[in-house]
Amino acid sequence: MFITLEGPEGGGKTTHIESLARFLKQQGYKICSTCEPGGTSISDQIRDVLKNKSNTSMHPRTEILLFCAARAQLVEEVIRPALDDGMLVLSDRYADSTLAYQGYGHNMDLDTLRQLLNFATGNRWPDLTLLLDIDVEQGLQRKIVQADDWNRFEEYQLEFHRRVRSGYLALAQQEPQRWRVIDASQTWDTVQQNLQEEVTGFLEKFPQKNGGKSSA
Ligand code: TYD
Repeated sequence: MFITLEGPEGGGKTTHIESLARFLKQQGYKICSTCEPGGTSISDQIRDVLKNKSNTSMHPRTEILLFCAARAQLVEEVIRPALDDGMLVLSDRYADSTLAYQGYGHNMDLDTLRQLLNFATGNRWPDLTLLLDIDVEQGLQRKIVQADDWNRFEEYQLEFHRRVRSGYLALAQQEPQRWRVIDASQTWDTVQQNLQEEVTGFLEKFPQKNGGKSSA
């Protein structure tokens, strides 16, 4: 079973995924938790290039290929082996981030991106995707308050982030069986509770995909 957390800036994905992983471990699942861009030595090196603030001249096509390259390595080195091992894989961002940020955000052609993403991931898409949806201004404000690593992506204009958010909502609408939209403006505890309920509900509904739950 492969579950991803997605969303615009400031939705709290990173702290939520940690707690969600702890909760699912307590339920007896074998968890592999990862984060994009990064998650392997090669992918981390690519992340450094992507996040380097001096790379202001980076063209969106270059950015796309770097995200895809980092992801291809992560799939082959971490995600696929863990899934083959029957683990439940949780990823903080994945291919849908490219559709939302580079596709909707930078207006790059979505069909081309899907082809690239299929190639990069070997057609491995998540079984369940949880969208932590938050108003753009509210999300960026949270990010500024916490910021120790204010990055290149967060410096894009507000309009860019608005396109990203509505892109995510469009993706969720196109594939409602895979996506769940969670209102991330609620209190942290409520959001975490929503996440836990959505994931356990999904795992119960698809027991054949119930990867990782020990029978003991
Ligand atoms: P990060 O500091 O990991 O941000 P976050 O905590 O929001 O995940 O930086 C990742 C940034 O990269 C974030 O702004 C989203 C962006 N991104 C893309 O533009 N395309 C992608 O395919 C991925 C994975 C991330």
